[in-house]
Amino acid sequence: MNQHILEAKNLSIRFGGLRAVDDVSFKAVRNKITTIIGPNGAGKSTLFNLISGLLRPNSGTVYVDGEKFRNVGPDTMQKAGLARSFQITNLFFELPVAENIRLAAQILEPKSRWAMPIRASVIAAKRVQELLERFDLKSKAEYLVGALSHGEQRRLEIAVALACKPKILLLDEPTQGMSHGDTEDTANLIKSLSEDVTILLIEHDIGLVMKISDYVLVMHQGQKLAEGTPEEVRANAAVQAAYFGHA
Ligand SMILES: Nc1ncnc2c1ncn2[C@@H]1O[C@H](COP(=O)(O)OP(=O)(O)OP(=O)(O)O)[C@@H](O)[C@H]1O
Ligand SMILES: [Mg+2]
Repeated sequence: MNQHILEAKNLSIRFGGLRAVDDVSFKAVRNKITTIIGPNGAGKSTLFNLISGLLRPNSGTVYVDGEKFRNVGPDTMQKAGLARSFQITNLFFELPVAENIRLAAQILEPKSRWAMPIRASVIAAKRVQELLERFDLKSKAEYLVGALSHGEQRRLEIAVALACKPKILLLDEPTQGMSHGDTEDTANLIKSLSEDVTILLIEHDIGLVMKISDYVLVMHQGQKLAEGTPEEVRANAAVQAAYFGHA
């Protein structure tokens, strides 16, 4: 088995004159946490959009387990084993917590059962229970999402992204807007998830990045500025100048 579960090769996209992602290549190691950092507008979310098929690159290729994906949509990338959460909450606020997970888990059911009543969806139901437990949301299963705290909503979003049992989980700023305590809990949760799934993370909290990342990729103005272990990246002079704002 190839230790690199994901490879992005020479990905580029332009928006008019702006090179939002400019010839970016990297590899992610199986069951490790690869974190993408960089200033606002560096192209981090756009890179996720290219990898997950939400945007089509002007050039470049994505490989999942050695299989080549070029110019394909999000459905194809989901089938390949990718799932993602969004920088902006992407939940159904008027539906209960469990129902949000169940809708995403429904894809685990064989197609022949899709037209049957919900109670026939036993595989999805089992997945919902597993995730409610793992994410400490069991007591809130029947709450409407709108009634959860911000931290709980962000946690639920990770559960929803995991519902389809992906091989690779892309998390775009999962701790955004969280209190210090919730951020710590989420960091520990993400770390524990990497036992079963490869994680690609975008994160601004540099303390968290240094603590849980196995590998860090630094983006700046659409390009890859540096990469390496958290220690290597922290010691990199170009990173210090561009990202931390001092030399
Ligand atoms: N659909 C789009 N059309 C035009 N420009 C876009 C589009 N999406 C992103 N951009 C631009 O591309 C650049 C990179 O944006 P992106 O959202 O990837 O940055 P980011 O690194 O995720 O930033 P942040 O840390 O603020 O989330 C920005 O200048 C942004 O304005
Ligand atoms: Mg972003």
